[in-house]
Amino acid sequence: MSGAIENLFHEDRRFPPSDVMKNGANAKEELVARAAADPLAFWAGEAEKLAWRKPFTQVLDDSDAPFYRWFADGTLNVTESCLDRHLAEHGDRVAFHWEGEPGDTREISYRQLHLEVCQFANGLRSLGIGKGDTVAIYMGMVPEIVVAMLACARIGAPHSVVFGGFSSDALRERNADANSKAVITCDGAWRRGKVVPLKENVDVALEGETTVEHVIVVRRTENEVQWTDGRDHWFDELVQGQPETCEPEIMNAEDLLYILYTSGSTGKPKGIAHSQGGYLTGVSSTFRNVFDIHDDDVYWCTADCGWVTGHSYIVYGPLANCATSVIYEGSPDYPDQDRFWALVASHGVTILYTAPTAIRTFMKWGDHLPARHDLSSLRLLGSVGEPINPEAWMWYHEHIGGGKCPIVDTWWQTETGAIMITPLPGVTTLKPGSATRPYPGIDASVVDEEGNEVAPGGGGFLVVNSPWPSMLRTIHGDPERYREVYWSRFPGRYFPGDGCKLDEESYFWLLGRVDDVMLVSGHNLSTTEVESALVDHPAVAEAAVVGRSDPRTGQAIAAFVTLKGDRVGNEELLQELRSHVATKIGPIAKPASIVFTSDLPKTRSGKIMRRLLRDISEKRQLGDVTTLANSEIVEAIRDGAQTSKED
Ligand code: WT7
Repeated sequence: MSGAIENLFHEDRRFPPSDVMKNGANAKEELVARAAADPLAFWAGEAEKLAWRKPFTQVLDDSDAPFYRWFADGTLNVTESCLDRHLAEHGDRVAFHWEGEPGDTREISYRQLHLEVCQFANGLRSLGIGKGDTVAIYMGMVPEIVVAMLACARIGAPHSVVFGGFSSDALRERNADANSKAVITCDGAWRRGKVVPLKENVDVALEGETTVEHVIVVRRTENEVQWTDGRDHWFDELVQGQPETCEPEIMNAEDLLYILYTSGSTGKPKGIAHSQGGYLTGVSSTFRNVFDIHDDDVYWCTADCGWVTGHSYIVYGPLANCATSVIYEGSPDYPDQDRFWALVASHGVTILYTAPTAIRTFMKWGDHLPARHDLSSLRLLGSVGEPINPEAWMWYHEHIGGGKCPIVDTWWQTETGAIMITPLPGVTTLKPGSATRPYPGIDASVVDEEGNEVAPGGGGFLVVNSPWPSMLRTIHGDPERYREVYWSRFPGRYFPGDGCKLDEESYFWLLGRVDDVMLVSGHNLSTTEVESALVDHPAVAEAAVVGRSDPRTGQAIAAFVTLKGDRVGNEELLQELRSHVATKIGPIAKPASIVFTSDLPKTRSGKIMRRLLRDISEKRQLGDVTTLANSEIVEAIRDGAQTSKED
């Protein structure tokens, strides 16, 4: 892509914070001003809220940029901030209300969680696993996944969580890259009433040469599993009789806390490396201020611990703040499509954090489903993972938030560790579709291809101008790739790979990955803006657009549209949608073709796979689609694409 990205979409709706929010929120104007005046002092203050063994004396060490170090001479164990320090006053507070997909429940207090973490940490040590040994975690969303992550942190063993929906090949590849010494898994996981055979996948992943010496298996689904004596251990037998306390390993702030693989669109997965002190500072600060956690809140993040959202905002951020959270094991449509709303009502959830892909799916399923439940406990909503289209934002606001809950649209990445661009619910006037402004202490801008800041009203590349505590430290085993991918496009600045525009008030509007930008008749158009214009039409639940090569215009816009409820697409609606885009954002953005489809191809974390839609539109041979969450939809779309109308 060259040149700036066009700014087409205009949004006039405004939602200022209520007086209750303004007065009661953890983060007030004062915090924003203080962080702006001295970002390093702000971060030092946030770090000092954690439990340190040896206090740090230096905040940032930038002598070997871009290999920045934070709080580097401090020592700590992150589990002391997440567990031990809460016990005296809040030991009986619920850390997790857990609900299994079949409907079974467990309540785990901070005291209980501490006990389970200590016993399992002792169990790991009894197998000879300790500081510096990488442990893979390949599990469903059972409470033991949190116990496993924290037990690793307790003994200084970096964890590498591999999403339980991934294949044995993905696990094998990640084990090899990380040199995993052990794998923690379950016999199986419940998904839509069926058992996902996790242990069997582990067995396949360990065939042949492997660095893995131990496999620890949590009983969940009681399905039959193969057993390798000496290598395999039942979790319950391993923790049985272990001491109830466990001396934590004292770690340097800069030691590795975990590796988490992010696939990106091309090449081998990158093992994103996160540190101890800086990471916990970032997630704990943002959790407190963005989600505005108070003692009586019940918080629910619907992510899986296999993604960074689960690491930062199910495990480390909430626990460092002594929050009470809900964890749900299964699928949102089991047994019915209103399971999430039943959960919100039965647990009295006050803060809900989910993804645009889920919100658009709920829009498609229909308004009557949330309407069946009392959602009045909710007071704050969050969104993460993709740009949220203004109409999806409005639907979330009305049908889930009852018109009274602020929505925090939080932009960040696996690499950034913590939320970077976001509203503060007691401070920021919201605009549907905008992640608003950088978090206090974060210095981000939008630049053109030469690195010059664009003026308000312009579009270009998002960059972060200075380091922040929770940033990735490197790509595991490949520091050169770290430098190349993130720090070479705009020297001295971090480049996340996202397009962004600034409005007249310097609000940030994320425009999707720059690899997805379309070049139509010499204009760079963002997929996000055209998609939002389509979702703006009352019949549309979700849309994906891609640029397909076109002899006349360079690229032509190909759109794929999912309708709400049981509406069906026809020629009339197709023309109506094309004109709707033209009126909403301009004739240049009018899709050349539209395919109606019941679903869109998505990654397992719910992001639309535009690369695949480009392949379909340009009639290329499709590569491996088995990594998709819904591979069967590809055939259906391809059949549809051949019959769609064009100009
Ligand atoms: C990419 C990072 C961060 C946790 C989940 C995803 C996109 C994420 C937003 C948002 C617009 C967003 C970006 C980013 N993204 N949040 N609020 N608005 N885009 O982590 O898998 O590392 O993906 O997700 O493109 O670069 P990830």
